[in-house]
Amino acid sequence: AGARQLEGRTVVVTAGGTREPLDPVRFLGNRSSGKQGIAIARAALEAGAAVRFVAAHMDEPAPEGVEVTRAGSALELQHAVLEAARGADALVMAAAVADFRPADYTDAKIKKTDDGDAPTIRLVRNPDILAELVAAREAGGPDGAGLPPIIAGFAAETGDGDSSVLDYGRRKLERKGCELLVVNEVGVDRTFGQDTNDATILFRDGSEPVPTAGSKDDVARAVVDAIVRVGNR
Ligand code: PMT
Repeated sequence: AGARQLEGRTVVVTAGGTREPLDPVRFLGNRSSGKQGIAIARAALEAGAAVRFVAAHMDEPAPEGVEVTRAGSALELQHAVLEAARGADALVMAAAVADFRPADYTDAKIKKTDDGDAPTIRLVRNPDILAELVAAREAGGPDGAGLPPIIAGFAAETGDGDSSVLDYGRRKLERKGCELLVVNEVGVDRTFGQDTNDATILFRDGSEPVPTAGSKDDVARAVVDAIVRVGNR
């Protein structure tokens, strides 16, 4: 580390949590603060990369020196990532993307009714942005043109013991098909919003997993090092 190993490279980083609109005043969201994604953007900048930063909802400002695109919902994030990823050398999906969104958006605020009933919110699946990007790249053709050769995902797991978190991560890596996957355990006061993280970086080419723990900056530097190594193989 310390070297400008990404000089001349472009890295796309997503950060924060998506908000899936329900009505003009409400959304379904998650606890991502954006801190881990911000740290990755900073580490990539320090390594000399140009950084395109796609920000969902964050509790902190975007780092200085990046090109920022804002994205509220998962669908907006998908659009922004597709734009930003073309021609980039690597993509890091640190954003916490909602798997589901409300099936219906109502233009007026959902009101209480006099009969005391509560509404039922029906959800539909969001696209898996990461998996679709990898699939488009593998399929080649115009849709896959210029997509990054290195795509790194994160896996936010709520574990019931360390080995199962890694087992889930391993399966997620297979399913998503990205080059590397950073597996971290999350919970109400775990990882989300914190200044520290404790993660394992898994590689699709079967290389030895890399454990990393400490501040989110420490983890971010380990992720950037891992990307550099994958690029050199
Ligand atoms: O923001 P912080 O407070 O610092 O917290 C950091 C973090 C916990 C949010 C971060 O470290 C993290 O784990 N981010 C990924 C959260 C997540 O959405 O995990 P997932 O296991 O649901 O998704 C796996 C991967 O697929 C992720 O890279 C995600 O960006 C991507 N994904 C998920 C769903 C979806 N519909 N499309 C996607 O592309």
